[in-house]
Amino acid sequence: MHNLGILLSGRGSNFIAIADSIDAGRIPNARIAVVISNQPDAPAIETAKQRGLTVLVIPSKGLPREEHDRAVVAALNEHAAEWVCLAGYMRLLSPWFVQQFPQRILNIHPSLLPAFPGLDAQKQAFEYGVRVSGCTVHLVDEQLDHGAIVLQKAVPVLDSDDDHSLAARILEQEHIAYSEALNIVLKGGYEIVGRRLQRKD
Ligand code: GRF
Repeated sequence: MHNLGILLSGRGSNFIAIADSIDAGRIPNARIAVVISNQPDAPAIETAKQRGLTVLVIPSKGLPREEHDRAVVAALNEHAAEWVCLAGYMRLLSPWFVQQFPQRILNIHPSLLPAFPGLDAQKQAFEYGVRVSGCTVHLVDEQLDHGAIVLQKAVPVLDSDDDHSLAARILEQEHIAYSEALNIVLKGGYEIVGRRLQRKD
């Protein structure tokens, strides 16, 4: 059984999708060991409590990055988290944090990386005028929205879209993609060659 630590800051719909997949047996070899929010008022905190999960609030406001990260990593270790899932965690990780979980941190980003990293990716994509966008689940390295790609899902941009409707359709795919990506990495049997996640067999 693989222990997951979930880090989030807000709504938590990706966290809920992962928890639903685990409960439905779609990620058979994982459990959520701990959910950590850096935002005391994140709606996902209540959701996680209602699901009977261990939830911790470790406020980041005003703290130097690495000091906060040390508290988060201590909590992850205390709950024996083996994998870290960033699920709308609106805070950059320090290099130190990344080094504590080498190639064991996943992030989901609402664009087809390397296009449109950073904030408001769906709006960036819409305003750029791309005809296809989507989402990316990737391993986290020391650069923003940058590590090796595990999985991407494409979403067409429709003539009738605005940035909100596009974001909503991308979000539907995010919820599917995160669980699929977890199944890929938890199964193992791959190595990272350059930027590529490559099957060993
Ligand atoms: C998602 O769009 C995710 O891709 C991005 O932040 C948003 C979080 O949404 N990293 P939620 O909190 O999972 O609902």
